[in-house]
Amino acid sequence: MTEPVLSLRGILKHYGPVHALDGVDFDLHPAEIVGLVGDNGAGKSTLVKVMSGAIEPDAGTILFEGKPITIRSPLEAREIGIETVYQDLAVIPWLDVEANLFLGREITGARWWNRWLLDKPAMRREAASHIASLRVGLKSVRQPVGLLSGGQRQSVAVARAISWGRKVVIMDEPTAALGVRESEGVLDLIRRVKERGLAVVLISHNIPHVFEVTDRIFVLRQGREAGTLITKKAHVSEVVGLITGVHVAAAVA
Ligand SMILES: Nc1ncnc2c1ncn2[C@@H]1O[C@H](COP(=O)(O)OP(=O)(O)O)[C@@H](O)[C@H]1O
Ligand SMILES: [Mg+2]
Repeated sequence: MTEPVLSLRGILKHYGPVHALDGVDFDLHPAEIVGLVGDNGAGKSTLVKVMSGAIEPDAGTILFEGKPITIRSPLEAREIGIETVYQDLAVIPWLDVEANLFLGREITGARWWNRWLLDKPAMRREAASHIASLRVGLKSVRQPVGLLSGGQRQSVAVARAISWGRKVVIMDEPTAALGVRESEGVLDLIRRVKERGLAVVLISHNIPHVFEVTDRIFVLRQGREAGTLITKKAHVSEVVGLITGVHVAAAVA
């Protein structure tokens, strides 16, 4: 297998007496989709926040393309090519869809009086094509995001991460608020991200969705790895067993 794009070693994160992460090792390879599953409170969001620079672990090492790094903020994570879609929606309600997609990296066109003018037509074309591929049924990319349904908003957040992620895209429950059709759109996009060689971490409670798109399934339980399964060799009951702690041994990926 190729060298991991992202490796975590011995990650610890405690909140007072709570061991949110208790020595987690995790590898992610280019063009690989890894499902991160576990019961409520297992440590999934905390692990994602460590990978995306939102929190610093108490101990442990993060390697990016083989080199030890410290990710001090989500902005730093983004600069090295790690994009994250958080569980709690990260869109700006009063801006329209297009502005949300291009937030912080507006396409620049002509230069005027020492500043770049936004290339609105180019932004609109790109935004429309990302949104069309999500099949969320938006009439226009100029609608304020605050007027959209929860599912449509989440799709905008996913489209944004997928458009900009260069190495790693992390998604915390991207289909949780979505209907069947919207979910299929997001799953299709995840598959396309993999085709571009990006690595994806997908957190989901929806085990069928995890089986549909992932290559490996990493199960967290009480802040520790309960097991890692190769998706095409795994069975739903094994994953459920690892999540609940009924099975302790697991096939090693
Ligand atoms: N900011 C925080 N302060 C205190 N405890 C936290 C904080 N974030 C997470 N925890 C605790 O850490 C554990 C893991 O939480 P989390 O990573 O959110 O789990 P998951 O995403 O798998 O549901 C839980 O017991 C949770 O209550
Ligand atoms: Mg969570």
